[in-house]
Formats: sequence, C-alpha cells, structure tokens
Amino acid sequence: MILVANFKMNHTRASTRAYINKLNEIELAPNMRLFLFPPATALDKYESIATIGAQNAYAAKSGSYTGEIGLEQLEEFGIETLLLGHSERRHIFNETQELIAKKFAFYQEQGFEIVYCVGETLEQREAGTTFRSIKHQFDGIDRAYEKLIVAYEPVWAIGTGKSAKAEDIEEVLEFVSQITPAPLLYGGSVKRGNIAEILSIAKCDGVLIGSASWNVEQFITMIEIAKEM
Ligand code: PGA
Repeated sequence: MILVANFKMNHTRASTRAYINKLNEIELAPNMRLFLFPPATALDKYESIATIGAQNAYAAKSGSYTGEIGLEQLEEFGIETLLLGHSERRHIFNETQELIAKKFAFYQEQGFEIVYCVGETLEQREAGTTFRSIKHQFDGIDRAYEKLIVAYEPVWAIGTGKSAKAEDIEEVLEFVSQITPAPLLYGGSVKRGNIAEILSIAKCDGVLIGSASWNVEQFITMIEIAKEM
C-alpha cells in the first residue's frame, strides 16, 4: 500500500522538518510505503520513514533554465524520486505532453522512481473522452518502466473536496491497468472520511493526498486507517 503526501506550494523547510520528525514517530505496516513531496526549497537531507521526492524538475543536470531545478540540485540531497504530470503542472503551467515525456525520459535514464499523474478534466468526462484523454497522457512515456507508479487524478476532483465515486475510480483504474503494469494510485480530495473506501477499490494500490496531507496529524490518522485494512 502506498500513501503519497503532495505538499504543493505549502510548508517551509522548517515546517517540513517538524512534519518529518513527527511522522518518524509512527510505525509503518510492512507492506506500506510513504512518499513526501515538499516544495523545492524545503528539500534537504532528511532521515525519514517516507521517501522524499521533488514535485518537479527540468530535464537537465544544470544549465540556463531560470527558475528551474535539475539533477544537480536533486543530487545534493540524494533525491531519486520525482512527481511528474500533475494536473496543476499541465493546466496552470501549461506543461505539454511533449515536455512531460522529455522530463520522464531524462529522469528514467537517471534511474529515478517516478510518480506519474494522469486524469481527465470535467469537460473531457462530460464529453465521454475520459479514456482517450488518459491514453494520450501516456504518449512518449515508458509505461513498462519498473520504477513507475501511476496516479489517476481526475482534475475536477483535485482540491475541490469532491472525490470521484468509487465505481468511476474502479472503472478508470481497470482501464489504466491495461495500459501499464505499474502500481496504481487514486488522487483527488482523499481525506479521513473516504480513504478506507478508496483503498478497498480493486486495482487501487494507494492514494495521492494533497490538502488533507498538509497537517501531519491528519496524515497520520489516514496512515492509521490504511494500516487497519
Ligand atoms: P487534493 O490534491 O487531495 O487536495 O485534492 C490531490 C493532488 O493534487 O494530488
């Protein structure tokens, strides 16, 4: 079972350290993996029960890419895990499939573990093109990469408090499982009240949690619920 905390543009280095110290007090179930994606400025050499990853990085070791971080900056902190394709990168920052695939190939070459996000917009769902749009988000992506984890995150469920229905999640995860053998997560308004139901969905290997993970007590409560399952 995989639980991922995506801090997005929240937490500082100091508050991330306090969060990790608190998280380190709990015990994980043997089949459990935790991932934490702090903002780039909060990366550091942490001792943690969670795998620490970066939310974004450019496809180069270093160079003239103002505002970006690359392999060299990640290597300083021993980061070998990357989140790619998040809907906020795709939709707010206009990352194209081509750019995302370029980053994927570069960090795959470096042996990074990659949590790769896909998901349809509300318009695509209403137009009945959910599967087609998700399939397109695998263009240029090595879907057989052994260090790949895929997160299905319907764009309309992210940060809205309204998660997708269990049957819809199940249907999409079934579809994605035909595209890739990677472990599959669901993300989009996962919280204390719905995590158990979501984790019990067929083909669901875990969850990607945004807002409900920013408070460490809340995240620990969700880990405890997952441990019971
Ligand atoms: P949310 O975010 O849990 O706040 O909906 C999920 C995500 O963006 O990964």
